[in-house]
Amino acid sequence: FPTQLLRSAPMSSLSGALTEVVARVFTELGLSPEFGRVTPSNRPDLGQFQCNGALAAAKAAKQNPRAIAEQVLGRLQTLPQFRDLSLAGPGFINLSLTDDALGAYARAFAADERIGAARKSPPEMVVLDYGGANIAKAMHVGHLRAAIIGEALRRLFLFVGDNVVGDVHMGDWGLQMGMIISEMELRRPDLPYFDAAFKGPYPNASPVTAEELEEIYPTAAAACKADPARMEKARVATAELQQGRPGYRALWQHFFDVSVEMMKRDYGALGVHFDLWKGEACVDPLIAPMVDKMKAMGLAREDQGALIVPVAKPDDKKEIPPLILIKRDGAAMYSTTDLATIVDRVQEQNPDLILYVVDQRQHLHFEQVFRTAIMAGINGKATMEHLGFGTMNGPDGKPFKTRAGGVMKLQDLIAMMSNSAMERLNEQGIATDYDPAERQEIARRVGLAALKFADLSNHPVANYVFDLDRFVRFEGKTGPYLLYAAVRIKSILRKAETQGDTPGAILPPEPGERDLILALGDLPNAVMDAYRERAPNKIADYAYGLAQTFSTYYNAFHILSEPNKAL
Ligand code: ARG
Repeated sequence: FPTQLLRSAPMSSLSGALTEVVARVFTELGLSPEFGRVTPSNRPDLGQFQCNGALAAAKAAKQNPRAIAEQVLGRLQTLPQFRDLSLAGPGFINLSLTDDALGAYARAFAADERIGAARKSPPEMVVLDYGGANIAKAMHVGHLRAAIIGEALRRLFLFVGDNVVGDVHMGDWGLQMGMIISEMELRRPDLPYFDAAFKGPYPNASPVTAEELEEIYPTAAAACKADPARMEKARVATAELQQGRPGYRALWQHFFDVSVEMMKRDYGALGVHFDLWKGEACVDPLIAPMVDKMKAMGLAREDQGALIVPVAKPDDKKEIPPLILIKRDGAAMYSTTDLATIVDRVQEQNPDLILYVVDQRQHLHFEQVFRTAIMAGINGKATMEHLGFGTMNGPDGKPFKTRAGGVMKLQDLIAMMSNSAMERLNEQGIATDYDPAERQEIARRVGLAALKFADLSNHPVANYVFDLDRFVRFEGKTGPYLLYAAVRIKSILRKAETQGDTPGAILPPEPGERDLILALGDLPNAVMDAYRERAPNKIADYAYGLAQTFSTYYNAFHILSEPNKAL
């Protein structure tokens, strides 16, 4: 068995491989194998790994923990892969591997295209909902975190082995549509879209550009807020749009088309991919049958002209108000389209999991939607999960705004990051011999890395402060630092090739190289922890630690100037 750890491709982390060994010893001693869990040591001065299971095992077996630990140790000592084994405190076991064992693991790791991470089997079908940008409104920093965290999870789930469908789920069916339509009617009453008698066909060209919409929406929203009569108009327009008034639908289609083009540009600039470009509107035909079903089940009931679903449970700690399914004027709500979207996803993908990456402040909304979906039995076999994220704040601790106090547009934010990265390149005299276009591209990538890593290195639920100067630094826990480490490694490999050095077999490590192999051998743990906890920051932390370990190694060892070719 011990040689199996050395020869086969590592289908696990180093600590995972050791857990198998130690768990077997626990079993041999008549104890439960679950006590054999080995983790990287939090006291590297005492050993590379530790196992604390003897304490729990002793409690379960009503024995002395040190006695159990000594028996385990005795058996481990007969195995060839350990350089050092010791006992500490009431029964902690410290373990260190021989350099031969580490070298063998490193070779298997290098040969394994999954770098030690087992592929999940069987895969599950996962629908990821991490877009939520709204038609006719500019994308802003609120959609940034959803996109960045969601994209990281999409790649992570795919790597682990699930089937993933990423859906942008645009906001395109709510009251904001009626606000814009009624604002347009005031500005351009001549357009055929408002003439109920018009028989068509409607013009092919959009009467507005996306940029114009970005101005029209805030103006319309402010007017509706200030004037109840305007708000009433917007409500009526929304209800009529949803009921299918042809002119409104035609106008809506224009809003939709020009907005989607812009969203594709913005998400594309972030390197964020969606498999589906669906929105709230496209599930509209599913609403009526769904509502009928909920009525027939006695789930939905009338309340002051509206249709509501009471979702409170007796053991609720906080009051959960009823979900509003249909408003008095007949309009569908945000919750209604989210429910119909569940119906659609069950029909189309039949997912095992629907994961919503949406602002934590929408938690109540998702609680109401999930409860309703389960009571109505519309979620098929899907578990529904809301991964709520915190806000990106300005220095004042409030959600990030522009200097003028407005909403920061995503496009402007990205430009700001690139500019700041360019300043850093200039300051440090980096890439001065590159042509300007290529240099601009480097700045763009460095800026994007800064933005994405800053976001991903925080736990999703945490709020964090946008600190441009810190994010674009080449030192510290930043995206540019990681890029720098990766580029340095690539540069070494390229130079090695030029001087005729090719990779040979990995030899047992020198003492200073051990840390690098130990760090690499922990990668599968970081991946699986991030996957289980939906926490991409675990990978960000890992990557930063690995870059630091590499840097230490690089400073201590010759690489290109190493005279011993075999080494
Ligand atoms: N459009 C919404 C907003 O801007 C976000 C949508 C999130 N996804 C969902 N399935 N509700 O707030």
